[in-house]
Amino acid sequence: MNLTGEQARPFDEWAPHYDAAVQEEKDFPSIGYSNVLGEIERLCAPRSGMVVVDMGTGTGELARRLSDGGCEVWGVDFSANMLAEARKKVPHARLLQADLNHGWPAALPIEVDSIVSSYALHHFPLTRKISLLLQWATHLVAGCSVVVGDIAFPTVDARTRAEHRWQDLWDSDEFYWAADETLPRLAKVGLEGTYTQISLCAGVFKIQCAVQR
Ligand SMILES: C[S@@+](CC[C@H](N)C(=O)[O-])C[C@H]1O[C@@H](n2cnc3c(N)ncnc32)[C@H](O)[C@@H]1O
Repeated sequence: MNLTGEQARPFDEWAPHYDAAVQEEKDFPSIGYSNVLGEIERLCAPRSGMVVVDMGTGTGELARRLSDGGCEVWGVDFSANMLAEARKKVPHARLLQADLNHGWPAALPIEVDSIVSSYALHHFPLTRKISLLLQWATHLVAGCSVVVGDIAFPTVDARTRAEHRWQDLWDSDEFYWAADETLPRLAKVGLEGTYTQISLCAGVFKIQCAVQR
């Protein structure tokens, strides 16, 4: 079943080669890929029985790490071929084909212990990112976090310098993060975020509700 048509197609085509491309970590945007996943894993603090959702799970590399850490992992992605790769790698994960734009998938548990996402949210403009994070945070057990690792820079200026540096590789249809524009936007909607730069072009946000429910 093709749920999302044209938008998922580039990811379907990329799926068989994706791991080899990003794990090479040769150049922008994959420099630091493994360390980003490692930092998400550290902040998520996997433990046995913990229920975690990986949004935009792709081939399931992050899902695999969390599953190996004892978590009950759910992976969401709109690309059937990405999910097919993930299924081979993390047979125990529950994988759902869904578009992140269509809200919290009904098959997911209503409340979860952690939500993670790696290298997926740069496909959404900042306003959409914020509304997704806000929506996801309502599904967290009180005191728990959303952890997002992605192509990101500490400041808008640093992002502009990076755009010049990697102009041949920069994709102007994508929306790379700048922490100094993101953290105030999160605060405005009642989310508290911290940011750690992990490589020249990637970092990790940890996001919680500012006032615990
Ligand atoms: C660059 S890959 C990252 C995959 C994986 N999380 C990783 O860290 O390697 C981006 C993933 O987000 C998924 N994605 C992008 N837009 C999406 C959407 N609107 N709904 C669901 N999945 C989406 C793509 O299919 C793809 O698997």
